[in-house]
Amino acid sequence: MSTRLPLPTTPPRIEGSTTLADAYGRVARDLRVSLTDRCNLRCTYCMPAEGLEWLPTADTLNDDEVIRLITIAVTRLGIRQVRFTGGEPLLRKSLAPIIAATTALRSDQDKPISTALTTNGLGLVHRIDELKSAGLERVNISLDTLDPVRYAQLTRRDRLADVLSAIEAAVAAGLSPVKVNSVVMPGVNEIDIVPLARFCLEHGAQLRFIEQMPLGPRDRWDRSGMVTAEAILERLQGAFELTSAAEARGAAPAALWEATAIDNPEVHGKIGVIASVTRPFCGDCDRTRLTTDGAIRNCLFSRTETSLRDLMRAGATDDELAGAWASAMWGKLPGHGIDDPGFLQPERPMSAIGG
Ligand code: 5AD
Ligand code: SF4
Repeated sequence: MSTRLPLPTTPPRIEGSTTLADAYGRVARDLRVSLTDRCNLRCTYCMPAEGLEWLPTADTLNDDEVIRLITIAVTRLGIRQVRFTGGEPLLRKSLAPIIAATTALRSDQDKPISTALTTNGLGLVHRIDELKSAGLERVNISLDTLDPVRYAQLTRRDRLADVLSAIEAAVAAGLSPVKVNSVVMPGVNEIDIVPLARFCLEHGAQLRFIEQMPLGPRDRWDRSGMVTAEAILERLQGAFELTSAAEARGAAPAALWEATAIDNPEVHGKIGVIASVTRPFCGDCDRTRLTTDGAIRNCLFSRTETSLRDLMRAGATDDELAGAWASAMWGKLPGHGIDDPGFLQPERPMSAIGG
């Protein structure tokens, strides 16, 4: 996606309510809020063993500030869906009240706001009732292998059992569809592709394989060695009949497949493959991101940010904050440019941006 169309000069209109449109005609409806940059795992593709230098608490948004910005996004900027991420969002003690404040809002279409959580699953079992009562609709649980030894190597923590019980609890609680996210890495977990697929189909969870993106430690990604969506599908075809699922993809990044186990037709359901690198979906992107320290990023890969926290702490009004947010989105580039010769990884790690 190296096309650079000239930016239309018309600035976004910002009185009362508007939308988060960009110069290429996309409109953001999905807000990703990172509630902490900390995590209780140390996935090798995300963090070094000793963790990262966490943001000082004073720099991060407090609950009132997060809720104020979510409220502005929904009531003035046309956001219809909010996903809470991290780091690990379950480490935020006030997660449930923040979700409850979000689900109390109504969208521009006078509908409830749809809420979702992206989590590594640790401790979810103990929080699930509280989150469900707060109105949480859906969860995505990260799991890259079913092998306890490989899980401990990959995440540097021996916690596979916690994740498996989190998936079961989420399915039982009806947080559906319960999605499981697996990042596939060359020479690390390709052999987990089929077992993960079988496990999720058997447990009523929807697995989504994700092509690894250049977001973690710099020596952990190499374009020529990455496991592509095509290679993932090829492996799946060894064990499953796959047919393309009928529903339109829209702004959703996953291409969905109907899968049926070749050795057991009773094992069937949907599997998604997210080809972020080899088949970018930037043209349909409807996301805007709020970092833990209150910056707007118009893309995972943006090189610039707009700090709403600084404006807010300097006394900005809701109108001014909405205006700054809309301007930040207007400048969203047409694509992530991973394949451009001049591509640079974002300075912030994924855990501080929010997935
Ligand atoms: N590429 C793709 N996905 C990633 N995630 C973390 N780092 C990367 C990366 N470099 C995923 C996690 C989790 C979600 C928050 O993002 O596995 O599922
Ligand atoms: Fe934590 Fe997610 Fe990073 Fe793993 S990928 S260390 S679970 S933030």
